[in-house]
Amino acid sequence: MSNYHIKHLEEYYQVYRQSVQKPELFWEEIAEEHFVWRKKWDRILSWDFSKPEVKWFEGAKLNITENCIDRHLHVRGDKTAIIFEPNNPDEGAQHISYKELHQNVCKFANVLYDKGIKKGDRVCIYLPMIPELAYAVLACARIGAVHSVVFAGFSSTALATRINDCDAKMVITSDGSFRGAKTIDLKGIVDEALEDCNGVDSVLVAKRIHSDIVMKDGRDHWLQPLLDDAYNEFTAVIMDAEDPLFILYTSGSTGKPKGMVHSCAGYMVYSAYTFKNVFQYKEEDVYWCTADIGWITGHSYIVYGPLANGATTVMFEGVPSYPDFGRFWQIVEKHKVNQFYTAPTAIRALAKEGLEVVEPYDLSSLKVLGTVGEPINEEAWHWYNDNIGKKKSPIVDTWWQTETGGIMISPIPFSTPTKPTYATLPLPGIQPALMDGEGNEISGNQVSGRLCIKFPWPSMARTIWGNHQRYKDTYFSAFKNMYFTGDGALRDEVGYYRITGRVDDVIIVSGHNLGTAPIEDAINEHPAVAESAIVGFPHDIKGNALYGYVTLKDVGESRNHDNLRKEINQLITERIGPIAKLEKIQFTLGLPKTRSGKIMRRILRKIAHNEVSNLGDTSTLLNPEVVQNIIDNAL
Ligand code: PRX
Repeated sequence: MSNYHIKHLEEYYQVYRQSVQKPELFWEEIAEEHFVWRKKWDRILSWDFSKPEVKWFEGAKLNITENCIDRHLHVRGDKTAIIFEPNNPDEGAQHISYKELHQNVCKFANVLYDKGIKKGDRVCIYLPMIPELAYAVLACARIGAVHSVVFAGFSSTALATRINDCDAKMVITSDGSFRGAKTIDLKGIVDEALEDCNGVDSVLVAKRIHSDIVMKDGRDHWLQPLLDDAYNEFTAVIMDAEDPLFILYTSGSTGKPKGMVHSCAGYMVYSAYTFKNVFQYKEEDVYWCTADIGWITGHSYIVYGPLANGATTVMFEGVPSYPDFGRFWQIVEKHKVNQFYTAPTAIRALAKEGLEVVEPYDLSSLKVLGTVGEPINEEAWHWYNDNIGKKKSPIVDTWWQTETGGIMISPIPFSTPTKPTYATLPLPGIQPALMDGEGNEISGNQVSGRLCIKFPWPSMARTIWGNHQRYKDTYFSAFKNMYFTGDGALRDEVGYYRITGRVDDVIIVSGHNLGTAPIEDAINEHPAVAESAIVGFPHDIKGNALYGYVTLKDVGESRNHDNLRKEINQLITERIGPIAKLEKIQFTLGLPKTRSGKIMRRILRKIAHNEVSNLGDTSTLLNPEVVQNIIDNAL
């Protein structure tokens, strides 16, 4: 029996028991057998959730790129590491072998070195899904620089906030990006962002769309000529197990985004282990995750997890609807994809297009299907199961978070019987708990509560960059000695988990985490706006969409409301990005508030959900009269 690759249900239970009874031993065996280390650890785990402080494999020395690239060179050097599928299918795919990946990453690391990047420096990466993005991430890891990838759909303001928060010295970007039929001026966005970022002294620019852009003398450098001149070997910088590998920002319910910090060793071990098991990856398989590397899913399950297993991973630049809605299935057929991992939002959007766009394609290569990022509804689950998996490919509904670094609760295909809308069972090493409102763990099955994790796992984020107190307050203060996920969940009669959604002010729209506060801040910047509140409401495709209640300074404002709505959404696009735009904007006379002045979002949420019959007692509000007015004018 190998505890690295589980193949049936009894084995899962056996491995799970071991992992919980002797977690240190469990992870030590995996770390020992499946990775290369420059020096082994002195201690497997030390932890204290009250500080909070967690260390895995302390004393060990390694470089993750030696595990993701170098060690494969002798055994699978000519094997394709990355299949790059461009936005426009006519451009043709690129197959990048492990040997080529090695060369490209080494050259890139030399370029970073020449530009003065050293171990520990922060490098911000703002690139589309092109091979340079993978090279950049791995080159940072090779040189020991901490990468902070910012999704290239974020606005210049959002980018500037993230660059400044971690004091990035360098930005890596491209002249622009292709997105379906559109192009986006990424370099222009970077230029705008950098007006507010004094710490950045160099910008590397990849050429992608061949647009005319302005290059700032002394600061901006075309990437390709530098790569062409660079030496194709670079000795990996040796890192301590707990050195930061990367920062990835995620929205909080309040304040600025949280830079989650992931460590080298624990993250490597866990992302690789979970990739192998959750996708049941075999040596010849072709695996495709449709996420963007700008999100954690792309970090763990396009780059690090697959490459650490010597897998072939597809990187897709485009969108599911271009040149038509059959694009995903055309790619599956073209590259004979065996494991396919996507978001429920994409499934819902594609299901809407009917089977005409699916049927022309041969999907028989598929063995495992996955979903991530938000709850999957039953209808979408069945559509995926029936029409894409043809009822023979198990669906892994994987629950996890930017903070967890890797998949936490998920079926193991061919072992765990799946159940629509259930993420099912915790992976080995993961000890979930459901908590009640009084802070007690709820035992037994057929119960629901707040989802916590009671024991550390190797890839948990170690802190929030520059703000350990916020890390403690957000994740370790709600329940004593527990990591609190922010999600609600239920456990059914056999112990399967179903994630029911956020219990805080984070709203998941199309699988993207959006905090209400930054969006409200953006709206409130509009000169006509007095105040605003955002809630989520169910949406057929996006899962949730945003409903904004906005009170104008001059309630009799004579300006056209539709124009105001456009201006508000424009502001949100500028401050955050188009993903945070509001679906509905209702202008209100006021917002319902408690006597202490707190906005009662619960009431607004119910109105947005059209559940106005049971609003509860509103008489204790500071301004109960506004509620009826909001109901009467609800959109
Ligand atoms: O609410 C959960 C939801 O997405 C949140 C994490 O978002 P993010 O950090 O952006 O990471 C997304 C990709 C890992 C969670 O707190 N979520 C994620 N996966 C699922 C899910 N909700 C239900 N089912 C899932 N499978």
